[in-house]
Amino acid sequence: MELTLEKLERHWLPFTNNREFKREPRLFVGASGMYYRSQHGRKILDGSSGLFTTPAGHCRPEIAAAVSEQLQTLDFTPSFMRGHPGAFELANAVAALTPKDLDHIFFCNSGSEAVDTAIKIALAFHLARKEAERTYLVSRERAYHGVNIGGTALSGMVKNREAFGALMPGVLHLRHTLLPENRMTRGMGASGVELADDLLRFVQLVGEKRIAAVFVEPIAGSTGVLVPPLGYLQRIREICDRYGILLVFDEVICGFGRTGEAFAAESFGVVPDLITMAKALTNGAQPMGAVAVRDGVYRTIVDAAPQGATEFFHGYTYSAHPAACAAGLATLRIYETERLFAKGRELSPYFQDAMFGLQELSVVADVRGYGLLAGVEIKAGSAPGVRGAELQAKLFDRGLHVKTTGDVAIFAPAFIATRTEIDQMTAILRDALSEY
Ligand SMILES: Cc1ncc(COP(=O)(O)O)c(C=O)c1O
Repeated sequence: MELTLEKLERHWLPFTNNREFKREPRLFVGASGMYYRSQHGRKILDGSSGLFTTPAGHCRPEIAAAVSEQLQTLDFTPSFMRGHPGAFELANAVAALTPKDLDHIFFCNSGSEAVDTAIKIALAFHLARKEAERTYLVSRERAYHGVNIGGTALSGMVKNREAFGALMPGVLHLRHTLLPENRMTRGMGASGVELADDLLRFVQLVGEKRIAAVFVEPIAGSTGVLVPPLGYLQRIREICDRYGILLVFDEVICGFGRTGEAFAAESFGVVPDLITMAKALTNGAQPMGAVAVRDGVYRTIVDAAPQGATEFFHGYTYSAHPAACAAGLATLRIYETERLFAKGRELSPYFQDAMFGLQELSVVADVRGYGLLAGVEIKAGSAPGVRGAELQAKLFDRGLHVKTTGDVAIFAPAFIATRTEIDQMTAILRDALSEY
């Protein structure tokens, strides 16, 4: 198809400068393994696993075959009052990866839906245990929890909130953990555990039995890779335990091996009550999200309902869609048979060395990283984000796809990446940065 400006106009792209994009569209028309192919036939190395979605590499034939077979066998099942075997199989497979007793899996279609589902589970849980006054939600400055109304209200990224007014009452934000003392720290910074005590202040502010849940990305990803300070997540857990508050880890980016273990909860040794996930659950091949819920939370909600009644009035037409379940099962099989989480763990030191090797460049303001996730922050230009947008274009033109947020380039290579591909990513970034 010849893409004239007229043909581009109808698609309103999300989170995109539409006017600029339509002047100079950057389209992908194919993908394989570590590479995209542009509309001009150029190979573009993928430095961000798509959008943190594709750790097993692009266009895996096993996933395509599973989806194709599923669509020719059972294309759709109503998700309310009906089921299909793939949904139960996938729930079992996900539960086998989640920590401890987070064994009940509620399916949805995206990370945003997972977050809003988790909000409703938290509220329903407290109502079921007769603490209906627990309605406050806590998240953090600089957090990203998707774009539905609940998740936007939890968001701490100013641009994502400012156009939308008051959103939801009763959301409190802990301070973020990006501290100058931890600049250029590999892994967890030594400073900042006390920032968790903001939660205590909220308890004192609104009352001991008023907070329903705290939402935390173990590593805040979209905002530019903020690795938690040492002891921070443990302290948050302790305060939650002391005051009966549910702890939700939003692992939409961290989940499925990004931090070296199946979930960051395991990497950081802190077990939350709920985990939200999406993206790598299907290797990005089908839209799907999920919430893993602790047994006690599930039982409380279910057992509170009278016999014969629906226990939780929530769900999506496409919850546990058969094609998404098939993609999820094929994906988890690949992760297991190819030991991809272990491969990612083994590649991490080499990758982090490469990223932290950029710190001597004068334009680099900070480097942060953990596992196969790293943020390279450059000094702002005329206004925050201007240089980041420019860098984004420069990298693409040099054959590298990387997600940028503001002035941070966020690297999240697929777990199948070779050292040579890590070297290529770093060389392209170094070359682009050397122009400043
Ligand atoms: C931590 C976190 N939560 C939620 C979301 C929203 O996911 P989705 O874009 O699939 O709705 C994202 C997306 O990047 C995310 O990083």
